[in-house]
Parts: sequence; structure tokens; C-alpha cells
Amino acid sequence: MNEIASAEERLGTAGVARRAVDGAESQRASRLWWDADADDYLAEHGPDIGDADFVWCPEGLREADARLLGDVRGRRVLEVGSGSAPCARWLRTQGAHPVALDLSGAMLRHAAALGTATGLPVPLVQAGAERLPFGDAAFDVACSAFGAVPFVAEPERVMREVARVLRPGGRWVFAVNHPMRWMFSDDPGPDGLTVQQSYFDRTPYVEVDAAGRATYVEHHRTLGDRVRDVVAAGLVLDDVVEPEWPEGRETVWGQWSPLRGALFPGTAIFVTHKPR
Ligand SMILES: C[S@@+](CC[C@H](N)C(=O)[O-])C[C@H]1O[C@@H](n2cnc3c(N)ncnc32)[C@H](O)[C@@H]1O
Repeated sequence: MNEIASAEERLGTAGVARRAVDGAESQRASRLWWDADADDYLAEHGPDIGDADFVWCPEGLREADARLLGDVRGRRVLEVGSGSAPCARWLRTQGAHPVALDLSGAMLRHAAALGTATGLPVPLVQAGAERLPFGDAAFDVACSAFGAVPFVAEPERVMREVARVLRPGGRWVFAVNHPMRWMFSDDPGPDGLTVQQSYFDRTPYVEVDAAGRATYVEHHRTLGDRVRDVVAAGLVLDDVVEPEWPEGRETVWGQWSPLRGALFPGTAIFVTHKPR
């Protein structure tokens, strides 16, 4: 029987390059990658993220407990980089009116199927977070759990776009890899405890095919860069939440593990709002 090809095999990933990648190439690579990887991603992480649950990060922080978005009942909520949209479906159970946006058609196909399966369909929009197809002040709240922001070359554009589509007073809360993770390899084991590269080196991580075209891209911002992106968009930074690894949590989720979680943060959640 033939093994089902991995995203790397389907995209012909030939190696890793460290080089500059502009916005267009980043978006093209992300779309290719998440389309090719959607089935595997959900097979691996579906049980952790749930069908209609809002889990902010591998540390297992749930919006049901953290309430970083405030009271969402009756609110118009945009989820940016929703993937299969479990967060948007959970928001629906809380009386919100969510819209789930993602670049990847394959991810959104999973979102549509899960919407039907759970009886919690949500409106789905396929678009890049760098240019949101909504009018000004169309939403009361926006959120993202590792969607879009780590993968775009110009995150300041995403911040500006989210600020534009939020009404004055609206909240924007987004979770990303904690910037200090950049120094380490993506290894959840002991080899992932040794610094491999400079925190200050913003050169993107790029996987490439045999012709040198990007097939996967991740961009790094220091903590200060992220704060500047938020502030430059006219938003107010209210908090940076660094969820701690809960005692007794044994889950290994990609590069996140109890071993590393006991020593340094894996996730940073930026809580911001648009001034009135
Ligand atoms: C790590 S997944 C997270 C998905 C979801 N929030 C979850 O927790 O499962 C990242 C998602 O960001 C989306 N994405 C990447 N770049 C994007 C962009 N420029 N605009 C919108 N979505 C993007 C991908 O398609 C993918 O679904």
C-alpha cells in the first residue's frame, strides 16, 4: 500500500535556507504549505485543539478560563488565520457572531466540514491577513491563535488592517511563538535546550524546493518589534500574557513540551485594543 505523501514530499521540499523573503513570496509559500499540510496538521493536532474549543496555545490555556476577549455575547468577532476554525465555533457557542478568515482553502474545507459535523457552522472567508476584505469598524473583537502573524513578512500590515476593521474600543488579542523560542531548534527534547542562533537575527526561516522557491516560511520578531508593530498601528497594548506550562501536563505539541515549558516560555499572547 502506498504511504500518503507528507507536505514536504508533495511540495518537493529540498532543504532549509536562511534568506530574505518578501510579502508576496511568504504568502505564496504559506498558501502552498497549509494547503498541503492541512490534513496532517488536523490529524496530529485536531484532538488537542478540539472541534469547538478555544485553546490559545500548546500550554493549554483556554479562552473559557482566561477570558482575554472579554464578554463576546452579541459581538462581531473576526478570527484571523483560523485554520479549521475551532475557536470561531466555540465563540458561536458563547453567543458571538464570528467570522473565520484563513489563507488556505484546504484548512477552510476542514472548517466547513467541522461546521456541519458539529452543527456550528460559521462564515468562512479565504483571504490573506495582510489585506482584510472587510469595511472599517466591521468588528467588535479580533483574535488569532497562531494564525497568520508568525508567517507574514510585514506583520505591521496585519496590525494596521486589524486596527482598521475594529470599531473604536474593540479588542485584538493574538498568540504567537514567544520570541525567545527563535534561539532554539524546534526540538521538544534535550537538544532543544541549547541556543542555536541569535535572538536578534531576523533572517526568516525558509524551506525551499529544488529550484530554491520557498515552500514554508516563518518570520521572527523580537518582543520589542512586536510591541512597535502594535503601537505603530495605533493600538494600545494592555498585556503580554506568557502562559506557564501547567504542572502535570504531559502533552508534546510540535516543539512544545513539559521539558522546555518548565524552563522558558513558548507562547506570547498580546492583548491590545483600539482607542475610543
Ligand atoms: C498554525 S495554524 C493555526 C490555525 C488555528 N488557529 C489553530 O489553532 O489550529 C496557522 C494558520 O494560519 C494561516 N495563515 C498563514 N498565513 C496566513 C496569512 N497571510 N493570512 C491568513 N492566514 C494565514 C494558515 O493557513 C493556517 O491555517
